[in-house]
Amino acid sequence: MWGIITDFFTYETTKSVVVKSWLVGTINRFMQLLIIVYFVGWVFLHEKAYQTKDTGIESAVMTKVKGFGRYNNQVMDVADYVVPQQGTSVFCIITRLIMTHNQTQGLCPQYGKNYRCTHDSDCDKHLRSHLANGIFTGRCLTEDGQCEIEGWCPTENDTVQTEYMEEVENFTIFIKNSVRFALFDITRGNFPRTIDINCMYDPVGNPYCPVFRVGDILRYANESFSAIAYKGGQIGIHIRWMCNFDQPVENCKPTFSFTRLDEAFEDNNVSKGYNFRFAKYYRSHDEEEYRTLYKAFGIHFDVMVSGNAGKFDVIPTLINIVAACTSVGLATVLCDIILLNFLRGAERYKAKKFEEVSDTDITAEVQSQSQSLQTIRNEGKISDDSGSFSNGRQRH
Ligand SMILES: *[C@@H]1O[C@H](CO)[C@@H](O)[C@H](O)[C@H]1NC(C)=O
Repeated sequence: MWGIITDFFTYETTKSVVVKSWLVGTINRFMQLLIIVYFVGWVFLHEKAYQTKDTGIESAVMTKVKGFGRYNNQVMDVADYVVPQQGTSVFCIITRLIMTHNQTQGLCPQYGKNYRCTHDSDCDKHLRSHLANGIFTGRCLTEDGQCEIEGWCPTENDTVQTEYMEEVENFTIFIKNSVRFALFDITRGNFPRTIDINCMYDPVGNPYCPVFRVGDILRYANESFSAIAYKGGQIGIHIRWMCNFDQPVENCKPTFSFTRLDEAFEDNNVSKGYNFRFAKYYRSHDEEEYRTLYKAFGIHFDVMVSGNAGKFDVIPTLINIVAACTSVGLATVLCDIILLNFLRGAERYKAKKFEEVSDTDITAEVQSQSQSLQTIRNEGKISDDSGSFSNGRQRH
């Protein structure tokens, strides 16, 4: 029991081997310098490891589009060309329409060269198709040479070429973005209180103006307006907040960037661009329901907000200082590899560094120890119990 206690109250420390070699010494100091430079330069100054970070940014976005265009001899305003109307971070500006007027419920020929027929049997293969504009009846309307459907008639012909609304290029989008960093309880907005609302965003001249021209956004995203206005497309507006609250809060400002989101499908043969359908319904005097079907092509905008904020804190600072100090010791690993494998006299260094103890040494040592123990015990036994001892010897 006493032995365990004395064993416990001890201190162990490692024995070091000092190698007086210019080469290994230089490599060791150089590696240590490299590790210190890495921690000070990259980890502390660049990555700001002394800060706590708030990455859970809370954000609200409101958008408002302004501008007038002419389309189909009508003046179009916001209520005509923006969907949905709520002014959220995701919205679409319609640039081109294919309209099918005066549709009513009924039976009519399905438009399209895939639906040509001469006999009823030619229409059988379409019976359960989802690709047409209604439910196939299975009949062939021979005077039209097209299969018959039941649904909204007449059916849409979406192969007609229509013009896009050129004025969209000059439309403006106002973006109001409010963010909050809950960890530090700091709220920021994307434009200062004093801004002139008649400004126009410019990445160099006016980077905090919240009004963006559609044509400019497409230019910053390297897209041509005419192509995207004709086929439709999806554009991302990224607002990034990278804030350092060790500096005054006023320096926490957003940066904007613009990308095309559906770029992956630009060279596809099917489903190019962005389009969707909607209809407007009305009743005639004879109480029959009519509708106008619109196939709309448009620029779909998505305002995305991301960012983080950091502020000095003791705990990450301490943790990273400890990590830096420990990592300086990594230099010895490399130096050991060089010292013990590639240097002249590596064997001698090895001999100094590692004390070799083999199995036979151990057994020899143990035997000599136990023999001396036995002699002590033998002496004791001889003195007080010689009878039993002599019995044991005789059995051998
Ligand atoms: C856009 O605005 C500029 C200048 O205000 C004007 O010259 C141009 O014709 C406009 N473009 C369209 C398509 O209306």
